[in-house]
Amino acid sequence: MASCLCRYRWRFLFFCWPCILLLPIYIYVSLSLTYVMKHGTHPVLPIHFIASGIKLSRDLAPHPEESFWRNELNSGAIWNIIQYMTDSQQNPILNPRHLAANPPGVSNKTKRRRSRNGCSPDYEINQIMPDFLTLPKQMKDFVTSMHCRDYPLIIDPLDVCDRGPLAKSRAPTLLLAIKTQTADFVNREAIRETWGRSGRIKSRGGRQRLVRRVFLLGKSKDLRIEEKLQLESDKYGDILQWEFIDTFFNLTLKDVLFWDWFSRRCPHARFIFKGDDDVFVRTPALLDYLPAKETNGSFSNGSRQPNKMETFVLGDVIHRAMPIRSNGTKYYIPQSFFKGVYPSYPGGGGVVYSSSLAHRLLEVSQRVHLFPIDDVYLGMCLQRLGVYPIHHPAFLTFDFPKDKIKEPCAYHTILLVHKRSPAEMFQLWTETSTPSSECRNAKLRV
Ligand SMILES: *[C@@H]1O[C@H](CO)[C@@H](O)[C@H](O)[C@H]1NC(C)=O
Ligand SMILES: *[C@@H]1O[C@H](CO)[C@@H](O)[C@H](O)[C@H]1NC(C)=O
Ligand SMILES: *[C@@H]1O[C@H](CO)[C@@H](O)[C@H](O)[C@H]1NC(C)=O
Ligand SMILES: *[C@@H]1O[C@H](CO)[C@@H](O)[C@H](O)[C@H]1NC(C)=O
Repeated sequence: MASCLCRYRWRFLFFCWPCILLLPIYIYVSLSLTYVMKHGTHPVLPIHFIASGIKLSRDLAPHPEESFWRNELNSGAIWNIIQYMTDSQQNPILNPRHLAANPPGVSNKTKRRRSRNGCSPDYEINQIMPDFLTLPKQMKDFVTSMHCRDYPLIIDPLDVCDRGPLAKSRAPTLLLAIKTQTADFVNREAIRETWGRSGRIKSRGGRQRLVRRVFLLGKSKDLRIEEKLQLESDKYGDILQWEFIDTFFNLTLKDVLFWDWFSRRCPHARFIFKGDDDVFVRTPALLDYLPAKETNGSFSNGSRQPNKMETFVLGDVIHRAMPIRSNGTKYYIPQSFFKGVYPSYPGGGGVVYSSSLAHRLLEVSQRVHLFPIDDVYLGMCLQRLGVYPIHHPAFLTFDFPKDKIKEPCAYHTILLVHKRSPAEMFQLWTETSTPSSECRNAKLRV
């Protein structure tokens, strides 16, 4: 019996010797793991993590000094703060339930604000903007009314585009939407008779295309010319007017309100030209330049190509512009209002985009806070859609480069030029409609 036990003990020792050796290691590992799980060895991350940047060094290209995060952009500038809040509210990852409960663009806060004081000025804003009292008048006016964009229509032309069952087949190829002010009657007359003619227009290539026209206006303070505008509207049916004061910083309202009008009254137009009333446009050449029939993007093998039409926007594209910081200029934007670089945008003198893009712009604009400069605002909306505007050198929103204007056939190489008087519009229209043999085959500027 004893010898038997002895034999087993030896066997036991022989097999378990490695286990016994490993036991301290096992205890050590378990203890460490328990400790790590309880206390953690990682440093606690700050709520707003900021990666430290790389300083300028001889061996490296210039890098951000402090941080890669644009934190400081969202502090101290009221537009950035409001937009940052809107973005966070709309962010489906940060705020999934909120998004489901509210339609895009309508947060409870803005809802409350709108219903509380309608579109009346919000003077409490100067508590948020410390330098409010030193701002120029147009900036003050903008800031106190920037929460509002629901202005009713005063004049709503119903017959610009066909309605009813034939609306789609009789939709215009190009809808001209021209920014103008009540007093600029002469400009409107010149446009109606030259580059802004409504009806079937022969393109340079000889095809007939349907073109329609509307003028976009706010209200002027002069009641007498307002009466004349009503007469003008009765005669031409191309006046579109809203109940807001027509100032430079209110031009963005013409974009957002026009997109809304367009989606209801002329949704099938294929392209939109939006521009100023002091430009000359070579409409027949522009008609040829517009991309041909809209492809739906679906191949028979089931793969989907991104729809080119949904991203079509063409103009004189300005890149990486900085806000103008000198008080006293028309474009002055103080630091306390906006910080950062403007996104790429097509100059507001004249820009062409597809109707499918216009519908997307209407939607995205509800999530982009109003900005006082209308073409920059368009750029901000495009940026959010991930759409890059296409630059075309034939859009001369800053007029011809020096001396180029003297070249023969100069006007036969452009699509748009700013700025031209009504008298010049007539003269240029005649000149470009009946080109001399020398200019007949002039190519667009590249
Ligand atoms: C927003 O308003 C809805 C009702 O209109 C309400 O149910 C919801 O709780 C509100 N959300 C917030 C964040 O106040
Ligand atoms: C900007 O100009 C206005 C007058 O146009 C003046 O009242 C104001 O003090 C100026 N503000 C700054 C910050 O210079
Ligand atoms: C824009 O129009 C509104 C409504 O008429 C007005 O209250 C506001 O002062 C205008 N804004 C500017 C910058 O002129
Ligand atoms: C589908 O067809 C298009 C054009 O015919 C082609 O460019 C694309 O590569 C095809 N896709 C697949 C997945 O075969």
